[in-house]
Amino acid sequence: MSNNRFVPRTGTAQVLAKPERTAWFKGGTHHCLIPPRPPGGKAWRIVLLGAPGVGKGTQAELLGERLGTCHLSTGDVFRAAQGCARAELTPAMQNALDYMKRGELVPDETVLNMVGERLRCLSCTGGFLLDGFPRTVAQAMALEQLLESNGIELTAVFDYELPLEQIVARLSGRRTCTLCKTVYHVASRPPKVAGICDQCGGKLFQREDDRSEAVKMRMEAYQTATEPLIDFYQQRNLLVSIAADGTPEEIYQRTRRSLRTRD
Ligand code: AP5
Repeated sequence: MSNNRFVPRTGTAQVLAKPERTAWFKGGTHHCLIPPRPPGGKAWRIVLLGAPGVGKGTQAELLGERLGTCHLSTGDVFRAAQGCARAELTPAMQNALDYMKRGELVPDETVLNMVGERLRCLSCTGGFLLDGFPRTVAQAMALEQLLESNGIELTAVFDYELPLEQIVARLSGRRTCTLCKTVYHVASRPPKVAGICDQCGGKLFQREDDRSEAVKMRMEAYQTATEPLIDFYQQRNLLVSIAADGTPEEIYQRTRRSLRTRD
Protein backbone atom coordinates (compact mmCIF):
# COMPACT_ATOMS: atom_id res chain seq x y z
CA MET A 1 0.00 0.00 0.00
CA SER A 2 1.60 3.30 -0.99
CA ASN A 3 1.52 6.13 1.53
CA ASN A 4 0.11 8.63 -0.95
CA ARG A 5 -3.32 7.06 -0.46
CA PHE A 6 -3.35 8.37 3.11
CA VAL A 7 -4.75 11.84 3.60
CA PRO A 8 -4.35 13.85 6.82
CA ARG A 9 -7.29 14.18 9.19
CA THR A 10 -7.72 16.05 12.43
CA GLY A 11 -7.63 13.78 15.50
CA THR A 12 -5.99 10.37 15.60
CA ALA A 13 -7.82 8.38 12.92
CA GLN A 14 -5.92 7.96 9.67
CA VAL A 15 -8.11 7.82 6.59
CA LEU A 16 -7.58 6.56 3.06
CA ALA A 17 -8.23 8.49 -0.14
CA LYS A 18 -11.72 7.75 -1.47
CA PRO A 19 -11.86 5.28 -4.37
CA GLU A 20 -13.39 7.27 -7.26
CA ARG A 21 -16.04 4.65 -8.26
CA THR A 22 -16.03 5.19 -12.04
CA ALA A 23 -16.80 1.51 -12.65
CA TRP A 24 -19.84 1.70 -10.35
CA PHE A 25 -21.25 4.94 -11.72
CA LYS A 26 -20.65 4.18 -15.42
CA GLY A 27 -20.88 0.37 -15.48
CA GLY A 28 -20.08 -1.75 -18.55
CA THR A 29 -16.39 -1.84 -19.45
CA HIS A 30 -15.43 1.27 -17.46
CA HIS A 31 -12.55 0.90 -14.97
CA CYS A 32 -11.70 2.86 -11.83
CA LEU A 33 -8.61 5.05 -12.16
CA ILE A 34 -7.97 4.69 -8.41
CA PRO A 35 -9.24 1.23 -7.48
CA PRO A 36 -9.83 0.51 -3.79
CA ARG A 37 -6.78 -1.01 -2.11
CA PRO A 38 -7.49 -1.98 1.50
CA PRO A 39 -4.53 -1.88 3.91
CA GLY A 40 -2.98 -5.34 4.37
CA GLY A 41 -4.92 -6.58 1.35
CA LYS A 42 -7.91 -7.54 3.55
CA ALA A 43 -11.01 -6.96 1.44
CA TRP A 44 -14.31 -6.53 3.30
CA ARG A 45 -17.51 -7.53 1.51
CA ILE A 46 -20.35 -6.01 3.42
CA VAL A 47 -24.08 -5.35 2.95
CA LEU A 48 -25.60 -2.40 4.84
CA LEU A 49 -29.28 -2.86 5.76
CA GLY A 50 -31.62 -0.48 7.57
CA ALA A 51 -34.55 1.86 7.02
CA PRO A 52 -34.24 4.90 4.72
CA GLY A 53 -32.42 7.67 6.59
CA VAL A 54 -31.03 5.48 9.38
CA GLY A 55 -27.50 6.55 8.37
CA LYS A 56 -26.24 3.78 6.04
CA GLY A 57 -24.61 6.23 3.62
CA THR A 58 -22.92 8.09 6.48
CA GLN A 59 -21.50 4.84 7.87
CA ALA A 60 -20.47 3.70 4.39
CA GLU A 61 -18.45 6.91 4.05
CA LEU A 62 -16.64 6.30 7.37
CA LEU A 63 -16.12 2.58 6.74
CA GLY A 64 -14.96 3.25 3.17
CA GLU A 65 -12.34 5.82 4.13
CA ARG A 66 -10.97 3.70 6.99
CA LEU A 67 -11.20 0.18 5.53
CA GLY A 68 -10.14 1.39 2.09
CA THR A 69 -13.07 -0.22 0.34
CA CYS A 70 -15.69 1.01 -2.08
CA HIS A 71 -19.17 2.42 -1.30
CA LEU A 72 -21.59 0.94 -3.84
CA SER A 73 -25.00 2.60 -3.52
CA THR A 74 -27.75 1.74 -6.01
CA GLY A 75 -29.57 4.96 -5.00
CA ASP A 76 -26.47 6.99 -5.99
CA VAL A 77 -26.50 5.44 -9.48
CA PHE A 78 -30.20 6.31 -9.93
CA ARG A 79 -29.64 9.86 -8.62
CA ALA A 80 -26.70 10.32 -11.02
CA ALA A 81 -29.09 9.38 -13.87
CA GLN A 82 -31.47 12.08 -12.64
CA GLY A 83 -28.88 14.64 -13.73
CA CYS A 84 -29.03 13.40 -17.38
CA ALA A 85 -31.42 14.70 -20.05
CA ARG A 86 -34.47 12.39 -20.16
CA ALA A 87 -33.86 11.58 -23.85
CA GLU A 88 -30.41 10.18 -22.93
CA LEU A 89 -31.94 7.58 -20.61
CA THR A 90 -33.26 4.14 -21.52
CA PRO A 91 -37.04 3.68 -21.00
CA ALA A 92 -36.24 1.37 -18.04
CA MET A 93 -34.14 4.10 -16.38
CA GLN A 94 -36.81 6.79 -17.03
CA ASN A 95 -39.30 4.45 -15.42
CA ALA A 96 -36.95 3.81 -12.47
CA LEU A 97 -36.66 7.55 -11.75
CA ASP A 98 -40.45 7.90 -11.64
CA TYR A 99 -40.65 5.10 -9.04
CA MET A 100 -37.89 6.73 -7.03
CA LYS A 101 -39.52 10.18 -6.99
CA ARG A 102 -42.67 8.66 -5.51
CA GLY A 103 -40.63 6.81 -2.86
CA GLU A 104 -41.49 3.39 -4.32
CA LEU A 105 -38.98 0.63 -4.99
CA VAL A 106 -37.64 0.39 -8.53
CA PRO A 107 -38.71 -2.97 -10.10
CA ASP A 108 -36.32 -5.86 -9.38
CA GLU A 109 -35.66 -6.48 -13.06
CA THR A 110 -34.35 -2.92 -13.61
CA VAL A 111 -32.20 -3.03 -10.47
CA LEU A 112 -30.77 -6.45 -11.33
CA ASN A 113 -29.94 -5.36 -14.89
CA MET A 114 -28.21 -2.30 -13.48
CA VAL A 115 -26.16 -4.36 -10.99
CA GLY A 116 -25.49 -6.96 -13.73
CA GLU A 117 -23.79 -4.21 -15.77
CA ARG A 118 -21.50 -3.57 -12.78
CA LEU A 119 -20.37 -7.11 -11.92
CA ARG A 120 -16.72 -6.11 -11.94
CA CYS A 121 -17.42 -4.07 -8.76
CA LEU A 122 -18.67 -7.17 -6.95
CA SER A 123 -15.59 -9.18 -7.91
CA CYS A 124 -13.21 -6.26 -7.24
CA THR A 125 -10.21 -7.35 -5.12
CA GLY A 126 -10.75 -4.22 -2.98
CA GLY A 127 -14.10 -5.52 -1.68
CA PHE A 128 -17.32 -3.51 -1.35
CA LEU A 129 -19.90 -1.88 0.92
CA LEU A 130 -23.28 -2.48 -0.69
CA ASP A 131 -25.76 0.24 0.35
CA GLY A 132 -29.41 0.00 -0.78
CA PHE A 133 -28.94 -3.37 -2.51
CA PRO A 134 -30.32 -5.96 -2.02
CA ARG A 135 -33.69 -4.56 -0.99
CA THR A 136 -36.05 -7.46 -1.71
CA VAL A 137 -35.75 -11.22 -1.20
CA ALA A 138 -35.57 -11.67 -5.00
CA GLN A 139 -32.61 -9.26 -5.12
CA ALA A 140 -30.91 -11.02 -2.18
CA MET A 141 -31.27 -14.40 -3.90
CA ALA A 142 -29.89 -12.98 -7.15
CA LEU A 143 -26.92 -11.45 -5.28
CA GLU A 144 -26.27 -14.76 -3.52
CA GLN A 145 -26.14 -16.55 -6.88
CA LEU A 146 -23.90 -13.91 -8.46
CA LEU A 147 -21.44 -14.07 -5.55
CA GLU A 148 -21.46 -17.88 -5.41
CA SER A 149 -20.82 -18.21 -9.13
CA ASN A 150 -17.81 -15.89 -8.77
CA GLY A 151 -16.50 -17.65 -5.63
CA ILE A 152 -17.07 -14.58 -3.44
CA GLU A 153 -18.26 -14.70 0.19
CA LEU A 154 -19.92 -11.90 2.16
CA THR A 155 -18.06 -10.90 5.34
CA ALA A 156 -21.17 -9.59 7.17
CA VAL A 157 -24.55 -7.89 6.81
CA PHE A 158 -25.00 -4.91 9.16
CA ASP A 159 -28.54 -4.06 10.12
CA TYR A 160 -28.75 -0.51 11.55
CA GLU A 161 -31.66 0.02 13.97
CA LEU A 162 -33.22 3.29 15.15
CA PRO A 163 -36.72 4.37 16.32
CA LEU A 164 -38.90 5.83 13.55
CA GLU A 165 -39.15 9.39 14.96
CA GLN A 166 -35.35 9.75 14.99
CA ILE A 167 -35.17 8.43 11.41
CA VAL A 168 -37.74 10.98 10.23
CA ALA A 169 -35.74 13.79 11.93
CA ARG A 170 -32.59 12.63 10.11
CA LEU A 171 -34.37 12.55 6.74
CA SER A 172 -36.10 15.91 7.05
CA GLY A 173 -32.82 17.72 7.90
CA ARG A 174 -30.69 16.03 5.23
CA ARG A 175 -29.01 18.22 2.61
CA THR A 176 -26.75 16.92 -0.19
CA CYS A 177 -24.12 18.66 -2.32
CA THR A 178 -25.20 19.03 -5.96
CA LEU A 179 -21.58 18.55 -7.10
CA CYS A 180 -19.65 16.12 -4.88
CA LYS A 181 -22.73 14.50 -3.20
CA THR A 182 -21.40 14.96 0.36
CA VAL A 183 -24.29 14.54 2.81
CA TYR A 184 -25.01 17.07 5.60
CA HIS A 185 -27.70 17.56 8.22
CA VAL A 186 -29.01 20.99 9.17
CA ALA A 187 -28.71 20.18 12.91
CA SER A 188 -26.28 17.29 13.41
CA ARG A 189 -23.81 17.90 10.57
CA PRO A 190 -24.29 21.48 9.35
CA PRO A 191 -21.98 22.96 6.70
CA LYS A 192 -19.79 25.90 7.81
CA VAL A 193 -21.79 28.23 5.52
CA ALA A 194 -25.53 27.49 5.26
CA GLY A 195 -26.46 25.91 1.91
CA ILE A 196 -22.83 25.55 0.69
CA CYS A 197 -20.68 22.41 0.65
CA ASP A 198 -17.53 22.57 2.84
CA GLN A 199 -15.66 20.20 0.51
CA CYS A 200 -16.19 21.78 -2.92
CA GLY A 201 -18.31 24.94 -2.54
CA GLY A 202 -21.26 23.32 -4.38
CA LYS A 203 -24.87 24.25 -3.55
CA LEU A 204 -26.74 21.95 -1.15
CA PHE A 205 -30.19 20.62 -2.04
CA GLN A 206 -32.96 18.62 -0.37
CA ARG A 207 -33.69 15.26 -2.02
CA GLU A 208 -37.09 15.07 -3.72
CA ASP A 209 -37.84 11.74 -2.01
CA ASP A 210 -37.26 13.34 1.43
CA ARG A 211 -40.67 15.09 1.12
CA SER A 212 -43.10 13.72 3.70
CA GLU A 213 -45.41 11.81 1.25
CA ALA A 214 -42.43 10.06 -0.37
CA VAL A 215 -40.89 9.31 3.06
CA LYS A 216 -44.13 7.54 4.10
CA MET A 217 -43.99 5.40 0.93
CA ARG A 218 -40.31 4.57 1.49
CA MET A 219 -40.94 3.44 5.06
CA GLU A 220 -43.82 1.20 3.89
CA ALA A 221 -41.68 -0.25 1.11
CA TYR A 222 -38.92 -0.90 3.66
CA GLN A 223 -41.26 -2.71 6.05
CA THR A 224 -42.91 -4.92 3.44
CA ALA A 225 -40.04 -5.64 1.04
CA THR A 226 -36.72 -5.12 2.86
CA GLU A 227 -37.32 -6.13 6.49
CA PRO A 228 -37.69 -9.83 5.46
CA LEU A 229 -33.98 -9.70 4.56
CA ILE A 230 -33.18 -9.59 8.28
CA ASP A 231 -34.40 -13.22 8.60
CA PHE A 232 -32.82 -14.12 5.25
CA TYR A 233 -29.33 -13.12 6.45
CA GLN A 234 -29.87 -14.33 10.02
CA GLN A 235 -30.49 -17.82 8.62
CA ARG A 236 -27.15 -17.54 6.81
CA ASN A 237 -25.37 -16.46 10.02
CA LEU A 238 -24.29 -13.18 8.45
CA LEU A 239 -26.53 -10.69 10.26
CA VAL A 240 -25.05 -8.25 12.80
CA SER A 241 -27.53 -5.81 14.40
CA ILE A 242 -26.11 -2.39 15.28
CA ALA A 243 -27.85 0.31 17.35
CA ALA A 244 -27.82 3.44 15.17
CA ASP A 245 -28.31 6.03 17.92
CA GLY A 246 -25.52 8.41 18.93
CA THR A 247 -22.98 10.22 16.78
CA PRO A 248 -21.76 8.82 13.45
CA GLU A 249 -18.37 8.16 15.11
CA GLU A 250 -19.97 6.18 17.97
CA ILE A 251 -21.94 4.08 15.49
CA TYR A 252 -18.81 3.55 13.41
CA GLN A 253 -16.92 2.31 16.51
CA ARG A 254 -19.78 -0.13 17.28
CA THR A 255 -19.68 -1.37 13.70
CA ARG A 256 -15.91 -1.71 13.72
CA ARG A 257 -15.95 -3.69 16.99
CA SER A 258 -18.46 -6.17 15.58
CA LEU A 259 -16.31 -6.53 12.46
CA ARG A 260 -13.30 -7.56 14.60
CA THR A 261 -15.07 -10.78 15.53
CA ARG A 262 -15.12 -11.61 11.80
CA ASP A 263 -11.43 -10.80 11.10
P1 AP5 B 1 -31.28 5.02 -1.39
O1 AP5 B 1 -30.44 6.08 -1.95
O2 AP5 B 1 -30.69 3.67 -1.15
O3 AP5 B 1 -31.95 5.62 -0.10
P2 AP5 B 1 -32.43 4.98 1.28
O4 AP5 B 1 -32.22 3.53 1.53
O5 AP5 B 1 -33.82 5.45 1.34
O6 AP5 B 1 -31.43 5.53 2.26
P3 AP5 B 1 -31.07 7.00 2.40
O7 AP5 B 1 -30.00 7.39 1.43
O8 AP5 B 1 -32.31 7.82 2.41
O9 AP5 B 1 -30.54 7.06 3.90
P4 AP5 B 1 -29.23 6.54 4.61
O10 AP5 B 1 -29.59 5.39 5.50
O11 AP5 B 1 -28.11 6.34 3.65
O12 AP5 B 1 -28.97 7.80 5.54
P5 AP5 B 1 -27.86 8.96 5.46
O13 AP5 B 1 -26.51 8.42 5.82
O14 AP5 B 1 -27.99 9.75 4.21
O15 AP5 B 1 -32.58 4.75 -2.32
C1 AP5 B 1 -33.36 5.80 -2.82
C2 AP5 B 1 -34.42 5.22 -3.75
O16 AP5 B 1 -33.78 4.56 -4.87
C3 AP5 B 1 -35.34 4.15 -3.16
O17 AP5 B 1 -36.43 4.74 -2.45
C4 AP5 B 1 -35.77 3.42 -4.43
O18 AP5 B 1 -36.77 4.14 -5.14
C5 AP5 B 1 -34.53 3.42 -5.27
N1 AP5 B 1 -33.67 2.22 -5.04
C6 AP5 B 1 -32.36 2.24 -4.67
N2 AP5 B 1 -31.90 1.00 -4.57
C7 AP5 B 1 -32.93 0.17 -4.87
C8 AP5 B 1 -33.06 -1.26 -4.91
N3 AP5 B 1 -32.03 -2.07 -4.62
N4 AP5 B 1 -34.26 -1.76 -5.25
C9 AP5 B 1 -35.32 -0.98 -5.56
N5 AP5 B 1 -35.26 0.37 -5.54
C10 AP5 B 1 -34.06 0.95 -5.18
O19 AP5 B 1 -28.34 9.85 6.72
C11 AP5 B 1 -29.58 10.54 6.68
C12 AP5 B 1 -29.40 11.92 7.37
O20 AP5 B 1 -29.10 11.71 8.76
C13 AP5 B 1 -28.22 12.76 6.82
O21 AP5 B 1 -28.59 14.11 6.83
C14 AP5 B 1 -27.08 12.50 7.81
O22 AP5 B 1 -26.17 13.60 7.88
C15 AP5 B 1 -27.85 12.31 9.11
N6 AP5 B 1 -27.18 11.38 10.04
C16 AP5 B 1 -26.56 10.21 9.69
N7 AP5 B 1 -26.08 9.60 10.80
C17 AP5 B 1 -26.43 10.41 11.85
C18 AP5 B 1 -26.23 10.33 13.26
N8 AP5 B 1 -25.58 9.30 13.80
N9 AP5 B 1 -26.75 11.30 14.04
C19 AP5 B 1 -27.42 12.35 13.51
N10 AP5 B 1 -27.63 12.50 12.17
C20 AP5 B 1 -27.13 11.52 11.36
